[in-house]
Amino acid sequence: MVRRRASLTRAVPAVSRAVPAVSRAVLEEVRGLQGRFTSRLHDERVASWLGLALGVSFLVSFATGLVSHFMQHPPGWMRWPSRPVNLYRFTQGIHVIGGLATVPLLLAKLWTVYPNLLRWPPAASAAHGVRRLLVFPLVAAALFQLVTGIMNIAYWYAFRFYFTTAHYWTAYVLAGALLIHVANEWPTVRRTVMTRPQDAVGRRAFLGTVAAASGVITLTTVGEAYSPLARLAVLAPRRPGLGPQGLPVNKSAAHAGVTVLARDPGWRLTVTGRVERELSLSPAGLRELPARTVRLPITCVEGWSAQATWEGVRLRDVLRMAGVDDDARVRVESLEPGGLYRTSEVDPPHWRDPLTLLALGLNGEQLDLDHGYPCRLIAPNRPGVMQTKWVHRVVVS
Ligand code: HEM
Repeated sequence: MVRRRASLTRAVPAVSRAVPAVSRAVLEEVRGLQGRFTSRLHDERVASWLGLALGVSFLVSFATGLVSHFMQHPPGWMRWPSRPVNLYRFTQGIHVIGGLATVPLLLAKLWTVYPNLLRWPPAASAAHGVRRLLVFPLVAAALFQLVTGIMNIAYWYAFRFYFTTAHYWTAYVLAGALLIHVANEWPTVRRTVMTRPQDAVGRRAFLGTVAAASGVITLTTVGEAYSPLARLAVLAPRRPGLGPQGLPVNKSAAHAGVTVLARDPGWRLTVTGRVERELSLSPAGLRELPARTVRLPITCVEGWSAQATWEGVRLRDVLRMAGVDDDARVRVESLEPGGLYRTSEVDPPHWRDPLTLLALGLNGEQLDLDHGYPCRLIAPNRPGVMQTKWVHRVVVS
C-alpha cells in the first residue's frame, strides 16, 4: 500500500501537465483520497488469496451448472446415467449452496481492490489499460450470476428476462473473463502467495472472518439439501419436510391448471407410439401390476431436495407390457395444458432402471393432487422439473 501511495504522488504532476483541462484541485482531491486507503488489507496478498478462493468457487459453479443444463438439455449423443441415485442432488446442492457461500468472498475481494478504481494515472500503458478494462465484464458477470441466482431461489422474479437462459450464457462470459484475468494476474498471485509475509496478523484475521462468514452461510442453508441438518437451514428458502405429505411443492395443481382433469374418473394412462400394443390403463388396471416401493429424493434445480417413499409400478414393467425395444426413447406427458415442463424425456438408462416408477402413492398415502395425482414419474438422479406430475400419456419413439 505504501508503494502504491508513493507512485501516485509521483504521477500527479505529470498527468496535470498532460491534461491541462483537469484542474489541480481535482488531482489534489484524487491524491487525498488515495492517501486515505491506509489499511494494508487493500493489498495484493489479500486480493490474491481471495482471488484464488473465488476462482475455485466459480469453476465449481460453472461445472455443476453445466451438469444441470446438460441433464435437462442433453445433446443427441448424450445419455445421463441413472446412478448414483443422488448425483444431481449433490451437484446442484453444491451449485446453489456453494454459490451462496461465494457472496462474502466476492464482497471482500471487491472491497480489497476498489481503491484501484481511483488509481492515477489509470493505466501505465495501452496494454495495461486493456487488461484493466477486461476486469469490468468479470465483475459485472460475477455480480449478475450471484444476484440473479439468489433472486431466483428466493422466488423473486423481478427481472424481465428468462433467468435460465441469461444465467447460462453469462456463465460463459464469466468463465472467459476469469480465464483472462487469471492469466494476467498469475505472476502476482504466485509472488504473493508463495512468499511468507512478516506482518500477516491483520490479513489472517480478515481472511478468517471472510471464511467464517462463508461457513455460516453454508451451515444455515445446507440443510435444504442434506436433511440431517434441516433444522439449521434458517436462511434456506425451502425446508425439505414442509409441504403436503411432508414434501415441498413448487407448482401446485391449481397453478398448473389441472385440478379438474386430474380428478376426472375417466382418467387413463395411455402408452402409444412405437409399441407392439397400445395400452390404456385405469388406476385399477395400474394397481394390478406388481406394486413397488422405492426411497428417492425430489431434487429441485433450486438446490433443495427431500427424500420420500414412493409407491407405484415400474415404468419398465408398463413399457414391456406394451412391447417396447430396449433402446427406445420415451417421453412422458402431463395433463398440464402448457408450460416448459409439460413433458420430459426418459432415456433408456432411466426407464430401464428398477427404481423408476409411475408413482401412485407417497409416504404411505395416495398421491396428493399437488404432488401429481393420479400418477407421476419418479426416477433416480434427475432434476425435479423432469419428474413429470399428472402424467396421462407415455409416448415411445
Ligand atoms: C449464488 C449463486 C448462484 C445461484 C443461487 C445459482 C442458482 C442456479 C439455479 C437455481 C440454476 C438452475 C436453473 C434452472 O434450471 O432453472 C442454476 C443453473 C446454472 N448456473 Fe447458477 N447459480 C449461482 C451461481 C452461478 C455461477 C457463479 C455460475 C457460473 C460460474 C453459474 C452457472 C450456472 C449454469 C451454467 C447453470 C445451468 C443453466 C441452464 O440450465 O441452462 N451459476 N444456477
